[in-house]
Amino acid sequence: KKDPRIEGIAASIRVVPNFPKPGIMFQDITTLLLDPKAFKNTVDLFVERYTGKDISVVAGIEARGFIFGPPIALAIGAKFIPLRKPRKLPGEVISEEYVLEYGTDCLEMHVGAVKPGERALVVDDLVATGGTLCAAINLLERAGAEVVECACVIELPELKGRERLNGKPLYILVESR
Ligand code: PRP
Repeated sequence: KKDPRIEGIAASIRVVPNFPKPGIMFQDITTLLLDPKAFKNTVDLFVERYTGKDISVVAGIEARGFIFGPPIALAIGAKFIPLRKPRKLPGEVISEEYVLEYGTDCLEMHVGAVKPGERALVVDDLVATGGTLCAAINLLERAGAEVVECACVIELPELKGRERLNGKPLYILVESR
């Protein structure tokens, strides 16, 4: 049932204990990027899923959504929108704050990047608490887009991030712990 390419992708992700803080098992996708077969299979699996779904927008979340989002956008013929950390975008922006373990962070999107009614896919490397994806969904919906799905390479299922996505479907390739 599971696609045979998934195993190689999972094996290419390095887990770094106690980074960036004690107790965190960091999921390092830079080793996936060093494996051209795993990187291509990752992009191909997403492209196969989203081709022909009338998606005109791929929104990638800073920073690692900027690695996986653009090749998907190019392959399915969609535009790419960067969702950035605060004060990085030069034009008029809308902002969404989200809660971190300590304090808050924020994602911003250029006003006018998306037109009302456009069908959007949100891409990032990993979903943990789901706060980041939730902020991304809110930005796109405030701009009038329809978020079709969120796509990530890795999910940390015990954090139940998918329950924070206001019912939006989440598609992942690899579950971690
Ligand atoms: C990581 C990851 C996701 C987010 C997921 O990014 O790449 O964007 O955390 O966490 P959440 O589901 O709990 O919101 P990070 O905050 O490390 O930012 P960076 O990619 O800019 O380093």
